[in-house]
Amino acid sequence: MARWEPLGMSVTPVLDLRGIEKSYGSVKVLHDVCFTAYPGEVTALVGDNGAGKTTLVKCIGGIHPHDRGEYRFEGRPARVGNPRDAAALGIEIVHQDLALCENLDIVQNLFLGRERRRGLTLDEAAMEALAAETLSGLSVRTMGSVRQRISNLSGGQRQTVAIARAVLWDSRLVVLDEPAAALGVAQTQQVLELVRRLADRGLAVVLISHNMNDVFAVSDRIAALYLGRMVAQVRTADVTHRQVVELITSGTGGGLGLRR
Ligand SMILES: Nc1ncnc2c1ncn2[C@@H]1O[C@H](COP(=O)(O)OP(=O)(O)O)[C@@H](O)[C@H]1O
Ligand SMILES: [Mg+2]
Repeated sequence: MARWEPLGMSVTPVLDLRGIEKSYGSVKVLHDVCFTAYPGEVTALVGDNGAGKTTLVKCIGGIHPHDRGEYRFEGRPARVGNPRDAAALGIEIVHQDLALCENLDIVQNLFLGRERRRGLTLDEAAMEALAAETLSGLSVRTMGSVRQRISNLSGGQRQTVAIARAVLWDSRLVVLDEPAAALGVAQTQQVLELVRRLADRGLAVVLISHNMNDVFAVSDRIAALYLGRMVAQVRTADVTHRQVVELITSGTGGGLGLRR
């Protein structure tokens, strides 16, 4: 049985999942998972390899919808059976494998599938201006031209484009699956600052990360998955690195998590 820290009850969570179950064929991956994400906060989702983090993200985004459980969005029951349902609610997922188009430029990637038109033609000028404005609004200075191809960008710059897409489309919830996994120190720092800025704009941000320093640097809450079960969701300020590492590796730590 999981034990729960009391969370702030006055604010309606953007995302509120209760009792989520998910199997792939005969293999049950998520067991009775509860998970909340609040506006203006970064919630770190942590867990060992295979704990079910990406599976939970795919349920949230409707890519692999959950089998059972309650999915509430901004206080109302929601049905998310496919990625369109998720997009309509204002959910943007930045996947582990980024899914940007290498051969297209930044503007084209930002507006992919949602291009601006003016009569029968694309309104390139408007899209270009909005792309530049979005990036500068995120205080991204190192990007250069918005007409560069994605294939010319560094890992950190690609993450930035993926994150900017979330801002451009006025999302309510942004989920980033291991955004810093392949980045160097300086780029990781930039992406983390961007993550913080998203939350400061009032979005609910879910950050999956293996790096405890990143988690503690940027998150307000930490949710720990252990073998497909949510063993704790706590305020970051209330736990130590060591406790979180214990939760990740054994499902229990410092009075939190699974009861022995
Ligand atoms: N498409 C799939 N089909 C079958 N099993 C899967 C699939 N995706 C993930 N799994 C299994 O689900 C479990 C959780 O995986 P995943 O959600 O990727 O974990 P994490 O992201 O925490 O590393 C693993 O045991 C994995 O093998
Ligand atoms: Mg994963």
